[in-house]
Amino acid sequence: MLSKSMQEALNNQVRLEASSSQAYLAMASWAEIQPGLDGVAEYFFLQSEEERVHMLKLMRFVNERGGFAVVPVLQQPNITFKSLKSMFEDFLNGEIAVSNSINELVDLALKEKDYATHNFLQWYVSEQIEEEKSARILNEKLELIGEDKSGLYLFDRDIMATRQRGGRDGHKK
Ligand code: FEO
Repeated sequence: MLSKSMQEALNNQVRLEASSSQAYLAMASWAEIQPGLDGVAEYFFLQSEEERVHMLKLMRFVNERGGFAVVPVLQQPNITFKSLKSMFEDFLNGEIAVSNSINELVDLALKEKDYATHNFLQWYVSEQIEEEKSARILNEKLELIGEDKSGLYLFDRDIMATRQRGGRDGHKK
């Protein structure tokens, strides 16, 4: 059985994953209407779906453990971006915030000696290592490319391959 504080903390994570899903959906939509960013759009549509999977996994766990998973109210995410680079910076910052929040959850699970939740959270710990790494690599590439158009063309063309390489657990396609 989950404690009240653990239930609240997990529901907070549900909200964070749902917000990430919405944020990436907005990035996908913005990229889709820019010339030549079809690969980036596809990347964020899939990233958005993945965050929804993260949210669902948490909700099922909360209910399984005798809690109540709450569907959250969400704010509208940023829907426009001043540049591709700033959008990818938002992506990385979002992932860092999620990692910090997962770490706090792990901390709480240990404090409460809730080893079932601690065990469940290990999947998220590993996932965040991959997510942060991918976001960092993409930011580094954009830094290197700068305003070079042929570089940006290749970045867009190859971005889906970076997802496939990062496919650790089978749900990244
Ligand atoms: Fe589910 Fe990318 O955090």
